[in-house]
Order: sequence, then structure tokens, then C-alpha cells
Amino acid sequence: MIKICGTGSALPARTVTNDDLSKIMDTSDEWISSRTGIRARHLAVEETTTGMSVAAAKQALEESGLQAEKLDLIIAATLSPDHVLPTLACEVQAAIGATHAVAFDLHAACSGFLFSLNTAAAYMQSGIYKNALIIGAETLSKMMDWNDRGTCVLFGDGAGAAVLCNLTDDGTDGGLKSFVQYSDGARGGVLACGNRPVNHPFANHEAENQYVTMDGQAVYKFAVSTVPKIVTEAVEKAHLTLDDIDHFVLHQANQRIIESVAKRLKQPMEKFPMNLQGCGNISAASVPILLDSLNKNGMIKTNERIVLAGFGAGLTWGAAVIQW
Ligand code: UT7
Repeated sequence: MIKICGTGSALPARTVTNDDLSKIMDTSDEWISSRTGIRARHLAVEETTTGMSVAAAKQALEESGLQAEKLDLIIAATLSPDHVLPTLACEVQAAIGATHAVAFDLHAACSGFLFSLNTAAAYMQSGIYKNALIIGAETLSKMMDWNDRGTCVLFGDGAGAAVLCNLTDDGTDGGLKSFVQYSDGARGGVLACGNRPVNHPFANHEAENQYVTMDGQAVYKFAVSTVPKIVTEAVEKAHLTLDDIDHFVLHQANQRIIESVAKRLKQPMEKFPMNLQGCGNISAASVPILLDSLNKNGMIKTNERIVLAGFGAGLTWGAAVIQW
């Protein structure tokens, strides 16, 4: 039985409100909050992707009661590591002293935490590894074009983590019940970010746009049509009904997307916790940060069933059902 035994999260100290943004660009609290629900986000000033990941990982380990040396696997989901090399996961491994773990990054944008959970679970279910640390961490503020008000107002920075343990069956019904995941590279252009150009002396490549670009309406349509499908599929795969689910912890991109998903699933909004109002969209970090705040605030009770779902660039999308 694969259980989440501990969670953690870290956010930058600096909160930037919509009103703060309206002082530096042509936008308003009214525009941002009415279209997205977002009112503020945390932006890294001194914080780093690695530093926030380490803080989140330490909290998750502490709650799990597991020593770092007992970790077999660390997967870090990020599109905004501090360095291209070494990987974020290896930096975390060194910082927490997880000397026996294999560590690697997984890049699936806003689905990254879900794909990390599913990847770790596959290793654990096959008996290869017993204990895993999964992280979703972003410093998206450095990926934004701060002259593009259509994208930069949506995103924030932060990190979340979870420790997964493969517990011997204790007779209870808990743990990871099912997961589904999908990709459609053919539609990748709607949410993109260029890389550094080939710049050796024998080539002459134009630099791509190194900041995030987005066709907001296409991403919106993609999200509201696919998320209800994968949630339903994951729930059915777990031999449950939507009414059996206590909490739907969705990627925190936009309140209107979450409300639309709730409506399509015919589930009350009370089952859809949100932190996007104060955090914005933190890509791979949004699901684990929200999960940690629910856990820390005692909002999840033993045996409650939770759907986790992520969706975003790639395009990628995935969902999992866990019993707490
Ligand atoms: O992890 C997945 C990440 N992506 C998403 O979740 C994005 C999903 N999409 C959305 O949430 C919405 O499409 C947005 C919130 C991004 C945009 O809302 P929209 O209703 O689709 O607005 P729009 O892009 O069609 O823009 C409408 C107007 C435009 O002005 P004109 O051309 O009508 O004069 C924009 O220039 O709003 C303008 N605009 C802004 N105005 C004030 C765009 N950004 C801003 C802004 N402040 N920040």
C-alpha cells in the first residue's frame, strides 16, 4: 500500500498583490481577480527553487518519521530549477543527506507532481523502491516576460513535497488507489517557453523567446474539457463514484476552471479547496502546496478519499485517487 506519510511546503516571504502589479503594468485587481480568482502571489526575492524544495522536503520527512538515509528515490518536478546541472533532485539529495536515494528531475510542467507521484508509485508497486520523496517546485517569476500582462500576472513561486512509503498491508483500505496520465505533444504550442539557441561557431540560430507564452483561451478550453474526464476515469479505475470523493485537489490555475470542473462533475464547490487566491499558479508546485496546507490544517481525515489532478504544458494531464 503506497501512502503519503508526510507533506511539506515553502513559499517566498514576499507577497505581491494585484494592486502591487497594477503600479508597474497596465492591469487591475478587478481584471485579474474576476478572470482568475487570483489576488496575490509569492515571488522569490532571496529564495531559490532548491532552497524552497529542501525546506518542503525536511517538513515532509519530519512528519513521516523517516530518516533521509531511508529514502530510495527522489523525484523533483520542475520547469524552473536554479541550475541546468546538477538537477534539482540531486541538489535536494545532497542537502538533506539522502545518501542512498537515486535522484532525478521530471519535467511535465503543471502535471509534474502528478507524473512524479505516478512514476514513484510504479517503482514502488514493482518492488524496486520502498520509500520515495516527490517534490514540485518552481521559481516561475524568472520564466515570465514581465512586459506580457496576459501571462505574468497568473503565476507565482513556491515548493511542495510529499514522502511516499510502501507500507505492508495493514488491513486498512488506504493509499494510492489509481492513476491516469496523458500527453498530447501535437497541441504543445499553446503554452510554450523557448530555450537557449545553438550558438557554436558553425551554426547561426535565431534565439527563441526564452519566456513563457500562452494562448490563454486554448489552454482554458483544454483544461475544462480534459480535467473532468481524467477525474472521472481515475475515480472509476479506483472502483469508486464521484460522490465517494471528499476532496478534489486540482492544479490551481484559475478559479473559473475549477468551478467549471465542479459543475461538469456535479460536485459541490466545498469539495474543491483552493489556494490560488493567495498563491497564483505555481505549476508543478501547486498541488503539493495545497495538499500540505490541507494536511497541516487538519482538513483531511483518515480514510478520506482525495483526487489529485494536474494539467498544463506539453500538453500533459493526469489524475490520481488516494485514500488518506
Ligand atoms: O497551468 C495552466 C496555465 N494556464 C491557464 O490556466 C490559462 C487559462 N486561461 C485563462 O485563465 C484565461 O484565458 C486568461 C485569464 C489567461 C485570460 O482571460 P481571457 O478572458 O481569455 O482574456 P483574453 O486573453 O481574451 O484578453 C481579453 C483582454 C485583452 O484586451 P482586448 O484585446 O480585448 O482589448 C487583453 O489584452 O484583456 C486584456 N488583458 C489584460 N487586461 C488587464 C490581458 N491581460 C490583462 C491583464 N490586465 N493582466
